[in-house]
Amino acid sequence: MEYKKVSEANQSYFIEILGSAYVQTDDENLQKHGRDHTEDLLFVPEIVLKPGNTQEVSKVLAYCNQHLIPVTARGAGTGLSGGALPIKGGVSLSMERFNQINYIDEKNFQVSVQPGVINEVLQQAVKEKGLFYPPDPASKGSCFLGGNVSLSSGGPRAVKYGTTRDYVLNLEVVLANGEVIITGANTLKYATGYNLTHLMIGSEGTLGIVTNMVLKLIPAPKNTLLLLAPFASPEQACEAVNAIFLAGCNPSACEFVEPDGFRLAANLLQISFDIQPEVQAYLLIEVDGNHMEYLMKEVETISEVLYNLQAIDVLFAETAAQKEYFWKLRRSIGEATKHNNTYKEEDTVVPRGTLPELFKGVKEIGARYGFRSVCYGHAGDGNLHVNILKDDLSEEFWNHTLDAAIIEIFTLCKKLGGTISGEHGIGLVQQKFMPVVMPAANLELMKAIKLAFDPNQILNPGKVYNA
Ligand code: LAC
Ligand code: ZN
Repeated sequence: MEYKKVSEANQSYFIEILGSAYVQTDDENLQKHGRDHTEDLLFVPEIVLKPGNTQEVSKVLAYCNQHLIPVTARGAGTGLSGGALPIKGGVSLSMERFNQINYIDEKNFQVSVQPGVINEVLQQAVKEKGLFYPPDPASKGSCFLGGNVSLSSGGPRAVKYGTTRDYVLNLEVVLANGEVIITGANTLKYATGYNLTHLMIGSEGTLGIVTNMVLKLIPAPKNTLLLLAPFASPEQACEAVNAIFLAGCNPSACEFVEPDGFRLAANLLQISFDIQPEVQAYLLIEVDGNHMEYLMKEVETISEVLYNLQAIDVLFAETAAQKEYFWKLRRSIGEATKHNNTYKEEDTVVPRGTLPELFKGVKEIGARYGFRSVCYGHAGDGNLHVNILKDDLSEEFWNHTLDAAIIEIFTLCKKLGGTISGEHGIGLVQQKFMPVVMPAANLELMKAIKLAFDPNQILNPGKVYNA
C-alpha cells in the first residue's frame, strides 16, 4: 500500500475538527508517541491527534481513509509487542481524552467506560460499590482499558477469572471508513451470528478504533490470602503448579519467579528482599473468597502440595502491607529487567501441565546458544515470560542468530500444545514468528478479515501478520 505523507492541508483539516491543542507536531510529543514499552524501539509518527469523542474519531478515520494516511491507535503506551508504534508514520491516534467512566450499572453488574480509563481507576471505582473487575495486568496503575481490550490483556488473576476477553460484553467501534458500529449486546450470552465483539478483542487496533465499552463485573471477594514458597529446584516449582490444581484448589494467582526477577525488582524499587543462596525459584500464590475458614483450608492443602514437592518454606503475607510488598515486587519485574539490561521478552504459553518441560527447554536452548534468561510469569496459566538478556552478546548475535533460538523456543511451545503469546500480543516484534504456530491458511483468513474491515489498510499497518 502506498501511503501519503501528512501535508499542511491535512494538518489544517485536523485542527479544524479537533482544535489546535489536540493536533501536535512538536518534537517532544512525536518522540513520546514513537515509543511504547517494547524494548528500545522508536518509530516517530508524523502527527499526534487527540480526539475527544466518537464523532471526532469518525471524522479523522473517514478523512485518513480517503487520503491514505496510516492511523495507529495509542493507549498508555505500556504494550510489550510494539502494537502502538506507528511504523509507517502517519497519525498516532491518542485515546487519552477518552477517560470517563460513563456509568456503573450495579443492578446488572456491568460498567460502561471509555477506552482511555486506567485499569486500576476502574477497579477502584467498582470496588467502592462492592464489585470486581478482575483483569489486572502488571501495568494496571497506568495501562488503559482500550489497550487491554486490543490485546485481551491478562495478569495474575487470569488463572481464576480469565483475561480481558472474558469481561467485554459490547463495544462501540469506529470503522476505517468512519462508520460507527455497536458490535454486540450488553448481555452475558450472545448467539447472534458471528461474534464481532470477540473479533475486535485482541485485534490490536488493526480492525477499528474502540470508543466505548461495556464490561462485565462480578461480586468482589471479601478476603485474600497470599503465600510465597521458595524452591531449590525450579522444575519442582513448575511441577507444584499443576499439583495445586490436581489437589482440587483454585488459586486466584499462581505466579512463578526466578530469583533474578525479584532481585532486579528489589534493586529498582530500592527495597530489601532477602534471597537465600539455595533458592532457584519462587511461587507466589493467592487464594480469594468470602469465607476465611474455607480459604485457610485451601492454603493448608496448597502448603502440603508445596512441601511434597520440596518447597524450602511456605511464607505467609500476614498484613495488607506485606501483601502489597510482594505484589509490588512481582509487578515491577518487567520494568526492572528493562531498566537493568537490553532484553527481548517472549510471552510463551503452554498447557499448564507441560510447564516443567517448557522451562527446562528454555534453559537448555539458552545454554546451547549462550544466553541468559530471567523467567517469570503466570504459571497457573502455563504462561511464562521469558526475558532474554543481552549482557555482552554481540550485535550480530542479538540481531540475527538469536532469532533461531527464539524459533526453537516457540517450536517447543507449539509441540507442547501452546503458542507464542498468551497476553502481550503479536504487534510488531512477534509477527515474524507467526508462521511457527500459524498455518498459511489461518494467516490468509486473518488477512481477508482485515481487508473486509479496512480495505485501504490504514489501521495500524504492518502489525500482527506480514501484509
Ligand atoms: C507481567 C507483564 C510483563 O506479567 O505481563 O509482569
Ligand atoms: Zn504478564
